[in-house]
Amino acid sequence: MAEQTTNLKLPVDRMPALRVEPMPKDTNQYGAVFGGWVMSQVDLAGASTAMRYALSRKVVTRAVSSFTFENPIYVGDIVSFYTKIVKIGRSSITVQVDVYAERLTKADNSVDLVTQATLVYVCVGQDHKPITVQESRDQYFKEHPEFMLCLPEISQ
Ligand SMILES: CC(C)(COP(=O)(O)OP(=O)(O)OC[C@H]1O[C@@H](n2cnc3c(N)ncnc32)[C@H](O)[C@@H]1OP(=O)(O)O)[C@@H](O)C(=O)NCCC(=O)NCCS
Repeated sequence: MAEQTTNLKLPVDRMPALRVEPMPKDTNQYGAVFGGWVMSQVDLAGASTAMRYALSRKVVTRAVSSFTFENPIYVGDIVSFYTKIVKIGRSSITVQVDVYAERLTKADNSVDLVTQATLVYVCVGQDHKPITVQESRDQYFKEHPEFMLCLPEISQ
């Protein structure tokens, strides 16, 4: 288990890619939230970040480079998934996901870092073969030239 994070606060300078409350059906036999549920949400958060950067839904998960469960999650927690693009390769986008639980059932509403993960997403074409990230973005602008000038730069 990670060191005590009692005084931890949610990041103030970042928006979470995903915020969700686990349900009783998401727990394991020990009463904490099932690790597979966390992995699924992490992948959704990471993928949405990669898709927004690639301006495409044709982005697939290629690798989970690291995944650590630092602290348990419980029903009643509000779980926030903060993402950051850490590398843009030729066809790949590497995303770091930091997951925090707000312990709303505790009197002090404390926050814990519960999971950290790094995942690699790859842009693919119609034939499911990798295409470059730039090709993916160019394709979007080819199909939607009207958005070329008005789309804000998305970094995450
Ligand atoms: C994604 C897929 C098309 C890529 O094909 P591929 O033959 O592996 O392509 P490449 O070897 O050229 O690798 C593509 C990129 O992934 C990176 N990559 C490959 N294996 C990796 C690994 N184990 N860890 C990190 N990055 C990896 C490569 O470095 C490359 O990045 P770059 O283009 O930025 O340099 C293919 O592997 C695939 O279909 N995988 C299944 C995807 C899937 O079903 N995901 C689950 C549901 S979304």
